[in-house]
Amino acid sequence: MSDTDSSSPDQVRLERTAAVAAAMDDIRAIEADLGITRAGVEAIRDRLVALSSQRELFSLDDFPSPDADEKRTSYLYRLSQDADDRFALYAQSSNGHVETPVHNHTTWACVVGFHGQEHNRFFERTNEGGEDGVTETHDHMVEAGTGIAMLPDELHSIHIDGEALNFHCYGLALERLDEREYFNPTEKTWKSFANVSGIREGRVGLQSC
Ligand SMILES: [Fe+2]
Repeated sequence: MSDTDSSSPDQVRLERTAAVAAAMDDIRAIEADLGITRAGVEAIRDRLVALSSQRELFSLDDFPSPDADEKRTSYLYRLSQDADDRFALYAQSSNGHVETPVHNHTTWACVVGFHGQEHNRFFERTNEGGEDGVTETHDHMVEAGTGIAMLPDELHSIHIDGEALNFHCYGLALERLDEREYFNPTEKTWKSFANVSGIREGRVGLQSC
């Protein structure tokens, strides 16, 4: 066990950088070995759960959520991303209500809990009578020590109420996911899911704060 309780914040950030790099090295190797398969994405999820168990490395103070008077209720902090934009890891820090429509990712995706709860609901596409729709298949409450893993075409929605910090990891950076779709339940149609903007830099040495 490390003695990070007595370490300086800078030391903790350096240790975090090393731990994230080691996890992402393993995740690249897992994808190379197992491919983008159920076994592969579940192994990636498990490696991220192991990373998140190093709790002393992820102080909530380093990843503040938006203030109460801000319009948005969550920030994404980039923790890792390859030069070709593959293997992107983010910390999502939320405070309040956060919700997404049902959507896919067009790359593999994992969510792992650290603090608070993120309710993940999973869906299948339906086309009854020629009309697009979705049917819920199962759900999972992502919290510390647990996570979920999705193949590129799998569908989920996210629901958070309150304070939460979770890790989101994708086979390709969110800014590059141009073809994600979400389901509009009012119009009963699939629409383009806009790229995420305003991602904050969470990597040591690249931070603006
Ligand atoms: Fe998602």
